[in-house]
Amino acid sequence: MSRLIVISNRVAVPKGGESGNQGGLAVALQAALREHGGLWFGWSGDTVESFTGNIHRHEGAGVTTATIDLEEQDIDEYYNGFANRTLWPLFHYRIDLTEFERDFAGGYARVNDRFADTVLPLVGEEDLVWVHDYHLIPLGRKLRERGVSNRIGFFLHTPWPPTRLLTALPSHRQLVESLFAYDVVGFHTADWLDSFHHYVTSMMGGTVDGETVTADGRSIRAIVAPIGIDTAEYEAAAESAEARFARDRMHMSATGRALVVGVDRLDYSKGLRERFLGYQRFLANHPDRRGLTSFLQIAPPSREKVDTYQAIRTDLDALSGSINGEYADIDWTPIRYVNRGYPREELAGIYRSARIALVTPLRDGMNLVAKEFVAAQDPTDPGVLVLSVFAGAAQQMTEAVLVNPYSAEEMADAIVTALAMPREERLRRWQALIEGVRREDVFWWCGLFLDALEAKTPELV
Ligand code: G6P
Repeated sequence: MSRLIVISNRVAVPKGGESGNQGGLAVALQAALREHGGLWFGWSGDTVESFTGNIHRHEGAGVTTATIDLEEQDIDEYYNGFANRTLWPLFHYRIDLTEFERDFAGGYARVNDRFADTVLPLVGEEDLVWVHDYHLIPLGRKLRERGVSNRIGFFLHTPWPPTRLLTALPSHRQLVESLFAYDVVGFHTADWLDSFHHYVTSMMGGTVDGETVTADGRSIRAIVAPIGIDTAEYEAAAESAEARFARDRMHMSATGRALVVGVDRLDYSKGLRERFLGYQRFLANHPDRRGLTSFLQIAPPSREKVDTYQAIRTDLDALSGSINGEYADIDWTPIRYVNRGYPREELAGIYRSARIALVTPLRDGMNLVAKEFVAAQDPTDPGVLVLSVFAGAAQQMTEAVLVNPYSAEEMADAIVTALAMPREERLRRWQALIEGVRREDVFWWCGLFLDALEAKTPELV
C-alpha cells in the first residue's frame, strides 16, 4: 500500500489517545495516516524572523506530523491576505468583502513555493499526496514543476463560486489552471462541482465527460465527496460524563425553557447577524412565546487580524445587546452570546440538551455542526435541526427543517415549527438524518476520495 502525504495549512497534532479532543477531519486523516503510514505536513502556527525551511517532526499516536514556521510577512500576505481576505470571502459569495492586492497574490505564490520546497524531500516515489483547501490550490502545480510525478489529489472544503464571481479575481484563470496539475479534485457537493464545470467549459473551452474534466490538454477526475463526522465516536462523546455534566448545567440554567443553540466560528459566512435577526423576529411576532425559550450562541473568535472579522464581532456585540435590552426580563435573557470554544464532549452535551439547533450559514462548503448535533441527540427524544439551504450539508440532510437564512420571517417561522413539532415527527426526521450521518461518516468520505486517488486517471488527451 502506498504511503499517504497529507498537506494542509493547519495540522492537527494528535494528542495522546486515539482521537483526543479533535475535529472529525483530523480524526479521519489521522486514521488514514495510521493505515497507510506517511505524514501530515503544514504550517506550525508559529512565525519566525526569516524563513528557514526547518521541519519540526512530531510522532504520536501512530501519526507523524511535519510542520514549518512562516515569516510574519507570509502570514500577512498569504494567510490573512490572499487566503482569508481574497479567496475566503470570494468563495463564500462575498465579493463586497473581497480585497484584491498584488502583494497578497505574491505572498500566496511564495508560501506555496515554500511548502513545495520543504515537503519535496519528504515525498517518496510511490506516495499518494493529498492537498487540502483554498490556502494551497497551486501546490500541486508547484510540486509538478519540481518533478513530482506521484498521484496528487486536492480537496476543497469551501464552496466553489459561480463563474461570474470568480472572474472578479484578477488571477482567476491561473488559479483554475493550477487545479489541472492534480489527478483528482474533490468537492463537498454537486453544486460546487457544477460551478467548477461551468468555469471550465465556459472560460477555458474545456469539456466534461462524467467525472473526467479536460482542459488545455490535460484531464483530471473531479468528484463529489461530502465529508462526514466520526459518528460512532461522537455518539459516544454525547454519553460521556463531561457531556452529561454540560447537559445538566444547561438544563439547570434553562429553568424549564426550551433551549435553542448555535455553534459557529465567528465568521460572516455563518449568518450570525441574520440568525440573531431571525430570533428577534420570532420574539417580536410571538409575544406569548417570549420567556419560553433561551437561545445560546457559542461563537469562538476566528482570524482576528482580519478587519472584516473584527467588524462582525463589534456588530454582533451590539446586536445581541440591543435584542436583550429590548426583550429581557428580570429573570430571563433571550440571547446568551459566548465568544469562546468548548471541548468536544461538552459541546455534545450542549447539543443534546437543546430542543433546536440553528445552523443557518449564508454559504458553507459543508457544515459539520449540523451532523454533530444530530449525532448527539437522545434517540428517544431528539431535538430539531433548523438548517440553511445554503449549507452544503442541506444537500444530504433533507429531513431537517430547511430555511432561507436571509429571511427573518422564515427563520422565525422555522423556530415556531420546531418548537411545536410533535415527538413522532421529531423521531421520524431524526431517524432519517442519523442514518445518513452514520452511513456517510468521515471514514466513508476519506475512503471515497482515496479510492479515486489510487485508481487510474483518464488517459492524457
Ligand atoms: C474552515 C476551512 C479550514 C480552516 C477552518 C478554521 O473550515 O475550510 O481550512 O482550517 O475553517 O479556520 P482557520 O483560519 O482557523 O484555520
